[in-house]
Amino acid sequence: MTTAGSSSSAKARVAIGKNINVETYEMPWVEKYRPLLLDDIVGNSDTVERLKVIAEDGNMPHIIISGMPGIGKTTSIHCLAHALLGDAYKEGVLELNASDERGIDVVRNKIKSFAQRKVTLADGRHKIIILDEADSMTSGAQQALRRTMEIYSNTTRFALACNMSNKIIEPIQSRCAILRYAKLKDAEVMKRLKEICEFEEVKSNDEGLQALIFTAEGDMRQAINNLQSTWSGFGFVSADNVYKICDQPHPHKIRAMIRECQKGDIDSALARVGELWDQGYAAVDIVTTIFRVTKTVEELPEYLKLEFIREIGWTHMRILEGVGTLTQLGAMIARLCKLSTAPHMMTL
Ligand SMILES: Nc1ncnc2c1ncn2[C@@H]1O[C@H](COP(=O)(O)OP(=O)(O)OP(=O)(O)O)[C@@H](O)[C@H]1O
Ligand SMILES: [Mg+2]
Repeated sequence: MTTAGSSSSAKARVAIGKNINVETYEMPWVEKYRPLLLDDIVGNSDTVERLKVIAEDGNMPHIIISGMPGIGKTTSIHCLAHALLGDAYKEGVLELNASDERGIDVVRNKIKSFAQRKVTLADGRHKIIILDEADSMTSGAQQALRRTMEIYSNTTRFALACNMSNKIIEPIQSRCAILRYAKLKDAEVMKRLKEICEFEEVKSNDEGLQALIFTAEGDMRQAINNLQSTWSGFGFVSADNVYKICDQPHPHKIRAMIRECQKGDIDSALARVGELWDQGYAAVDIVTTIFRVTKTVEELPEYLKLEFIREIGWTHMRILEGVGTLTQLGAMIARLCKLSTAPHMMTL
């Protein structure tokens, strides 16, 4: 953990009225708890280990880190650059992200002139150009990078971060070492959340933290953001409060609905879907939550679970094709009930 004195802001919390906490000058926790050292990065240990070897060795190849949002790609690149350049970070690093202009002109002027610039660095170290969210660069700009990467490679190395590595043109991919970050495991996110809860003196219960993990789906940024929103909004992190903040259908209700489908109780199951619909959830949110919950319902026998998932998958596809109506969801419920009803009853 790299957050010396982090509980000071907790002390800066001022209570106004009953149970309402107002955070004074509170930084977003995602930034406050952004790791500064490679050692502090959670998860993807093999890949992080490779970065540590590069940091020790000093000879950084061009790299691309790709993976889902919020799992530590930008953070890792910054940690690596800090580890490599130390105090020379300011002069030795050029960072461009999607908020900067990154067309061909920028590659021709800004990137090239930085690559040509003379900067005194420790022996064996290189200047680093960080291109964050590189998948949003036009392919023209990427093309313009090709030769630049080669010509200046004895003094300058590139570090690219992106969500989809296939949006990076092949010639650049072939010049780089590609590191893939996987979604973070639930236990890894949980550990980090618990650490933050301790630092910030957040009151929470186990179900609340589990709900944060469920809604974040391996995205650390979302988990931390939702933790902060729930804590500052409600003053207690419980499952109900988390689902209110995240605006997702409550998995407990969905679970009950699946159990009703299993029993063939179509009226109750339809009533539940109707209730979610009336609350304004989109069909696609309902169906994705149903899918994710179905995977975890232990009471469902394996064969039935497989059949359920198949039906839910078809419905998901139809909804994505544009037919996201209550009737569509109702039809899915009917099919799920039919699947679990004993065959002899169907002939009645
Ligand atoms: N592996 C991790 N270990 C610790 N904290 C993390 C990790 N991943 C993400 N975080 C937290 O989430 C925040 C965002 O991480 P980061 O900016 O590195 O995400 P990213 O992978 O670059 O996402 P995007 O694809 O959206 O750019 C960080 O400030 C940090 O607080
Ligand atoms: Mg990023």
